Amino acid sequence: MNNILVIGSGGREHALAWKLAQSPRASRVFVAPGNAGTALDGEQSGGDIENVNIKETDFPSLIRFAKDNKVGLTVVGPEVPLCAGIVDAFQTEKLRIFGPNKAAAQLEGSKIFCKHILKLGKVPTAIHHEFHFGDEAVNFLNQDRDMPIVVKADGLAAGKGVFVCGGRDEAVDAILRITKNKEFGTAGDRLILEEKLDGQEASVLAITDGSTLVVLPPAQDHKAAYDNDKGPNTGGMGAYSPAPIVDTETLHWIEEHILVPTVHALNQNETPFKGVLYAGLMLTKNGPKVLEYNARFGDPECQPILFRLKSDLLDIMEHTVDETLHKLPPLQWDNRTAVCVVMASEGYPGLYRKDLPIRGLNEAAKVPDTKVFHAGTAFNEKGEVVNSGGRVLGVTGLGNTVPEAKLAAYTAVKCIRWDGAWCRKDISDKAVK
Ligand code: AMP
Ligand code: GLY
Repeated sequence: MNNILVIGSGGREHALAWKLAQSPRASRVFVAPGNAGTALDGEQSGGDIENVNIKETDFPSLIRFAKDNKVGLTVVGPEVPLCAGIVDAFQTEKLRIFGPNKAAAQLEGSKIFCKHILKLGKVPTAIHHEFHFGDEAVNFLNQDRDMPIVVKADGLAAGKGVFVCGGRDEAVDAILRITKNKEFGTAGDRLILEEKLDGQEASVLAITDGSTLVVLPPAQDHKAAYDNDKGPNTGGMGAYSPAPIVDTETLHWIEEHILVPTVHALNQNETPFKGVLYAGLMLTKNGPKVLEYNARFGDPECQPILFRLKSDLLDIMEHTVDETLHKLPPLQWDNRTAVCVVMASEGYPGLYRKDLPIRGLNEAAKVPDTKVFHAGTAFNEKGEVVNSGGRVLGVTGLGNTVPEAKLAAYTAVKCIRWDGAWCRKDISDKAVK
């Protein structure tokens, strides 16, 4: 029995469940808790995919469900359960699970831990200083450091704990928000200040079993809310893959000088890593440097990456868990480019209204070479699909060129409407400029 349990409820988890369900060896794919998109895919496939109403942090219930339903592999989407030790909890119960354990997930869960690993592996990254108290950090800045600087809360802050500051006053303000106002709770118990890097950002993801590394095609996220990278930071308003800015030569360099040394450093530190190693990179004029590591697939990068993957994702994940990635044949990819456009609720990334019925999903489903991955969606009492989060849909299209993929995605976007729906209009334009 190859029942699979995917944990999480976003666009990334919809893409994971959709792809895993295509494996010839997959029986049923459960998603806890999932969203309206995973439920609809389940209805259309005659029950291959099924939502389970358990929260991603309720480990005892998830473990009981996995045992009762003969789940052969659990796949964790988001960082919060990983950093809280879901992999350790499942392994104690002899259940197979894809993702890093709690110790290794600190690569994402603590920016100070990440910097320690980068230093150990001599991996290029921004120069930084660590602080346990806000006063120390402010004193440091008062030593005549009025220059662009980045302030980061140490712990998990849903992408909000990073402040790119133009000068000292802004930086002091960020330090106080983290340490005095405690806007990020205990995630702000420690903090780092680091050099501001300039360049284009790219995401390079790899899958590793702790010794073998399988690098995935590069992607580019769009973190700012509005066109031309203006506006507040978000979880990501769209992504595309492959990203030509990371050419084959650069990708090899990144593998050799960034990813491989990171895996070695994690082993040397006795925190071996299994799962998705996601490097957030700045391509500076002095070469690629690590901005951060994530310990899971990116959202929305996961959607365009998996949309192009032809190989069986279940095989890849099982080889990772079993530490046999060296036996995996080379991955097969669709030659085309995939572009994913995030449709968001009015007001996101601030406050927004929920429960607004979404129209046009059936029309969008008819646009060739596209797939609408759901993120923040649910059903109302009438059975209509409604928005339930800030990022609502990840409309993903394939094309022979980047503009063709963009056109496919936006053609499907145009079919979909709800009160206040919006998206960036320039996803993937960076690839063409
Ligand atoms: P992080 O969560 O560390 O990736 O930071 C979130 C975003 O802040 C990144 O995607 C960058 O846009 C920006 N950022 C983080 N660190 C730096 C840095 N050292 N220099 C410039 N921008 C940065
Ligand atoms: N797309 C950025 C992230 O998943 O953190």
